[in-house]
Amino acid sequence: MNIPHIKGNLLYELYLFASNPIAFLNSQFEKNGDIFQANIPTKRIICSRDPKWLEHIFVKKQKDYDKDFTMRNIEFILGKGLLTNTGDTWLKQRRLIQTAFYKGRLESLSEIMENVIDLQIEKIQKINHGQKIFIDKEMLELTATVALETIFGEKMSPELHEVQEKMAELQEYIVKQIKFPLYYSWTRLTGEHQKAKEKLRQINHTLYQIINKRKEHPDNQSFNLVSLLTQAIDAETGEKMSDQELIDELKTFYFAGHETTAFGLSWAIYELVQHPHIIQKIKEEVDSVLVNGKIGIEGLKKLKYTSAVVHESLRLHSPAYIISRECLKEDEIQGVKINKGDTIIISLLHLHRHPKLWDNPLQFNPNRFLQLENNSIQNWYPFGAGPRICIGKHFAMMEMTLAIAKIMSKINFKLYPQQKIEAEALITLKPKNGILLIKQSSS
Ligand code: HEM
Repeated sequence: MNIPHIKGNLLYELYLFASNPIAFLNSQFEKNGDIFQANIPTKRIICSRDPKWLEHIFVKKQKDYDKDFTMRNIEFILGKGLLTNTGDTWLKQRRLIQTAFYKGRLESLSEIMENVIDLQIEKIQKINHGQKIFIDKEMLELTATVALETIFGEKMSPELHEVQEKMAELQEYIVKQIKFPLYYSWTRLTGEHQKAKEKLRQINHTLYQIINKRKEHPDNQSFNLVSLLTQAIDAETGEKMSDQELIDELKTFYFAGHETTAFGLSWAIYELVQHPHIIQKIKEEVDSVLVNGKIGIEGLKKLKYTSAVVHESLRLHSPAYIISRECLKEDEIQGVKINKGDTIIISLLHLHRHPKLWDNPLQFNPNRFLQLENNSIQNWYPFGAGPRICIGKHFAMMEMTLAIAKIMSKINFKLYPQQKIEAEALITLKPKNGILLIKQSSS
């Protein structure tokens, strides 16, 4: 089977992709159907929104596909953490971390998460009625604090604030390199690369100090990734992680978990403020589980409607909007020959909005997820699929469900009317100009 090539001038089309990936993908899927390809000078790139392609590449034949060239850029910041690592060393790390990160153990985190959420709510409640608030900024602050307390086991400090800022700057640097490959050589001429390396050195140094502190004063009581991983031992080899491996995993968890969850929450709130009847249902559900003002882990398990709201928001506004792989061995998918070296991009955003897979796909309707148990959800992949599925999936679902439940039942917002809400596709799907809300008096 032949798949259509993108039409028009290739250079111009690549420029369109780099400047606005979502608009580019919208128009190409519209013109070409579910699959299309482009031959750029060094390789063939295939884009698909077909769940059968996703299942083939990420589950059935996952051994024949590996992380692609974009990960090499990200590796500059994250080193060989779970997200960028491959092969046997990835498997060893995944096994080790999976034991620390299983669902039951995560449940002990809900208390820390809820306390952080309550503090953020108290802060927002102090804002006067009628004042404007960028909800994406609040959510970034919230998920960063949750990450610091649960992953690093630390409260915010000037050093960690600096780590946060430098990570954000490095991320911008990497995004430019992925979008404009020539920028890579340019940064070496301008000295920007050296500056980026220095920022990285400072981040690594701060994380090294945290790890050392935890090694000198091991803490078996509290759950945080640093404590768990400094003590974790590989069942097969009996080895512990080296300091560099630990540093890379901490950066990876912060990087992979904080923005995805913050933007996931921001898009959910954006939808909710436009659907007051859904907020009403959340309020009723939350009221039915609160004990002394807290939801707690038992209450969280009962929040079926709020969980459906989170599922629906991750469908319509998937923060990890594309996932991709490079083919390692010649293959065939639905009659299409795939060559070694081809890159295949699956647009989760477009798969989740596919009119053949979802009724009325652009409508925000949590009811689609109400009758379903987790393992029977079809065509829903915001966390990827297969052995490399997001290791933070349960963590993120817990955090998002708790945050939506608490925030929406305690604070009333209205959408600020004169603004253009647009998604910007960087590494995650970001609200381009932010999402501006107007605070209303509390309920
Ligand atoms: C709404 C929030 C989140 C979304 C949408 C999301 C999405 C994803 C996706 C799609 C992947 C697979 C990438 C691929 O196959 O190429 C992934 C991997 C990963 N995620 Fe998440 N994620 C979220 C939250 C988190 C959180 C909270 C953490 C950590 C606490 C986390 C840590 C990771 C890690 C370490 C990987 C790499 C796993 C591996 O390759 O073994 N993520 N995530």
